[in-house]
Amino acid sequence: MKAIAEKFMNDPALTAEEYAELIRCADDSETVQALTKEAVRLRNIYYGNQVYTRGLIEFTNYCRNDCYYCGIRRGNLHARRYRLSKEEILQCCEDGYALGFRTFVLQGGEDGWFTDKRMADIIRAIRATYPDCAITLSIGERSYESYRLFREAGADRYLLRHETADEEHYGKLHPQSMSLAVRKMCLYDLKLLGYQAGAGFMVGSPGQTVECLGKDLAFLKELQPHMVGIGPFIPHHETRFAKEPAGSVELTLFLLSVIRILLPKVLLPATTALGTLDQEGRIRGLAAGANVVMPNLSPLKNRKQYDLYDNKISMDEEAAEGRAKLAEQVERAGYHLADDRGDAVQ
Ligand code: 5AD
Repeated sequence: MKAIAEKFMNDPALTAEEYAELIRCADDSETVQALTKEAVRLRNIYYGNQVYTRGLIEFTNYCRNDCYYCGIRRGNLHARRYRLSKEEILQCCEDGYALGFRTFVLQGGEDGWFTDKRMADIIRAIRATYPDCAITLSIGERSYESYRLFREAGADRYLLRHETADEEHYGKLHPQSMSLAVRKMCLYDLKLLGYQAGAGFMVGSPGQTVECLGKDLAFLKELQPHMVGIGPFIPHHETRFAKEPAGSVELTLFLLSVIRILLPKVLLPATTALGTLDQEGRIRGLAAGANVVMPNLSPLKNRKQYDLYDNKISMDEEAAEGRAKLAEQVERAGYHLADDRGDAVQ
């Protein structure tokens, strides 16, 4: 095993440069094996074989942002836009609850129609109907005051990937109007307000170097998020990155293990993007140290429209209605689908 990996396993607080060196070991099978084993050992200590589930409700694909990699960016005039009504969102929750989900993730583009007032109203309605469920928001950058309002309305968790912790790389993926500094501030605001906060990034996004990934890990170590979402970049045909290669499944799995060791108690999903590039992606993610899956609970009629990247899966085990099938699949691999809210351990 490479020396840097040994150092990391003894004490995961490294510099960004050292994290980069660690990531360069991703092609050394002995090191990969050792880190995977350690990641699984830690996951088992804190979470056993329990896999947490989240019902993902993609409630709007309108977005004011123009992130260059994303299929629902504002500039994609071919995207068929939709937004769910409050009633439709509540229906998704009702369906999800009956299927066994105890966390609802409201994810959407940055859609101005969902003002603070409308969002708070929806959150309050879910909170009142499902006191035993966690409410997770994933609706992008808002002010401290907005985040506070949502928290008071009953939201528990917030997902906001930082996408890349390298300033220059951030500028290659986003228009000038967006900045890494604002993104980071939002994440710190969310933590301050008592949310369980989730950061994360794409693996293999255009222009990403090992040094960028080193900075991502250093940022995660500093932020200490409760959740980290990572998945391979996958090109979308209506973006400037249409011809770029997809990120590596192997490197994503390696990074899942590294993140588990970096933040042993973190909630770590085996993401849809991983499942899209590899039929076994979800199970392989769990075997690398992940402990969360997020099946799709959006209305069937809209599912294809939440088109972040090409060939995004949303059916079978990836769908909320496929929960029984998913349960069988994870049981076969030695895990068990938990039936509670699935909070991070203390
Ligand atoms: N490939 C992979 N992931 C993507 N996302 C957006 N576009 C893509 C893409 N082309 C991810 C971003 C975002 C999350 C909701 O989806 O990281 O934060």
